[in-house]
Amino acid sequence: MKVLHAAAEVFPLVKTGGLADVLGALPQALIEEGADVRLVLPGLPAIKEGLQNRVLVRDVGALFGAGTVSLWLGRLGDSGISAYMVDAPFLYQRPGNPYLSADGSEWVDNAQRFALLGWVSAHLATGELDENWCPDVLHVHDWHAAMACAYIAANPAASVATVFTVHNLAYQGLFDLADFRLLGLPARLMTPTGLEFHGQFSFMKAGLTYADRVTTVSPSYAREMATEEFGCGLEGVIRARGADVSGILNGVDGEIWNPATDMGLASTYTASTIDGKAKCKASLQKSLGLRGDPKALLFCVVSRLTSQKGLDLVLSALPILLAEGAQLAVQGNGDAKLETAFKAAAVANPGRIAVRLGYDEAFAHQMIAGADAMLVPSRFEPCGLTQLYALRYGTVPVVRRVGGLSDTVVDTNAESLRNDQATGFHFGPATSEALAHAMKEAIRIFAQPMVWRQIMIRGMTQSFSWKEAARQYLALYEEAAKSVKIAFK
Ligand code: ADP
Ligand code: GLC
Repeated sequence: MKVLHAAAEVFPLVKTGGLADVLGALPQALIEEGADVRLVLPGLPAIKEGLQNRVLVRDVGALFGAGTVSLWLGRLGDSGISAYMVDAPFLYQRPGNPYLSADGSEWVDNAQRFALLGWVSAHLATGELDENWCPDVLHVHDWHAAMACAYIAANPAASVATVFTVHNLAYQGLFDLADFRLLGLPARLMTPTGLEFHGQFSFMKAGLTYADRVTTVSPSYAREMATEEFGCGLEGVIRARGADVSGILNGVDGEIWNPATDMGLASTYTASTIDGKAKCKASLQKSLGLRGDPKALLFCVVSRLTSQKGLDLVLSALPILLAEGAQLAVQGNGDAKLETAFKAAAVANPGRIAVRLGYDEAFAHQMIAGADAMLVPSRFEPCGLTQLYALRYGTVPVVRRVGGLSDTVVDTNAESLRNDQATGFHFGPATSEALAHAMKEAIRIFAQPMVWRQIMIRGMTQSFSWKEAARQYLALYEEAAKSVKIAFK
């Protein structure tokens, strides 16, 4: 089975969130299951730099106002996985965030930038750009690459199967109708049952409508996406796809997230040498200027600061957290109001609350290892990876019962404790009261070290493996490829 993954991010080269972690791990897991896998990525500065031994596959010519476009094939540094890179300096050679300019607004030419990624992905998938390799399945991730599905739908000769994975429905790639002409797609696609979306056109709809199969990153979010509450206006489109939509849970890359081998920690540890975690806590408290108190429950947050993540609820629940004698360490960046409010809380509560604004991959490991518990109060969460990393590191997640969070964390109650299944704490409504209640419950159990230890160890022994996810994707690829072949007979 030959599979081409099309995406805008890949860990460790370009990462704004969990999408990059998925592209950094899933291809390798598929290869280990016997698949022949390649990636296609935009030629962003870090990707261009990180692609090794690259050779020119083809000069594609002038496209999407990019001047000249060329396609290269090389290997991704760490893994050695083969990746195509779309080199279009005029569109991609820009510093900083792949989607946003320095002032935080979308790049004005994002329609062209990501249409190009979709166009190249589609034409690679139909064998028109590389005569030496042609995939059976094109697996497209998020809106950035989704237009590939429209280019394939517009080509009556294309027989490649397509799978579209939604990592986050809230980012849809919406553009002015006037820009549609820049895409070179037939006007017949610009209808309400095609790409049109309330007077604009939508990249996300290209994936949702034209892919042979649609997946998302947890079974619960697959169901939630079809509801008005979580569907971001696309619930009707998703419902119309019926059984073509499914959820496959993300995994954890155990090479990168493993407390037994994580050399960036004050001490490595396993479930049977869990005392090493106390050293990580003491070291984290010290480096963040928190009181060196082993008995204070240290909560952490490692997150983008956006409304999705529900961190305003944490801010409102701070008085309770402080009254209960707990501590909080936050690492995140994003929304300016949230950044300011967290910084102010840290200034007002020295030794109790510490906040690091910014993105720091290495320190994220130290935070997750050193904290006792992690707060993930998301309003919606397609999968969520940080709570999976927390579980692996014996850091007990306190999560809202939503999406992938409810699929991966087992709430602590009398029954789950009795059955030794408890791995964290849930709360329901997106309110600070409900979050505070769950935090208080965590603090109450933390005061019973034997019970807390049981929950930590249960969490550490959970297996969220990419192997399992890869097997499910492979079964889906087979099914999608078969359905396309039948349609072509
Ligand atoms: P999302 O993709 O919605 O942001 P996930 O939980 O799936 O949420 O993935 C987030 C990823 O980004 C994780 O790998 C997490 O460790 C990382 N991350 C988020 N914020 C930061 C930060 N400020 N510093 C370092 N890593 C971060
Ligand atoms: C998105 C989602 C997150 C998910 C990640 C990787 O960014 O917000 O829940 O874990 O993609 O699939």
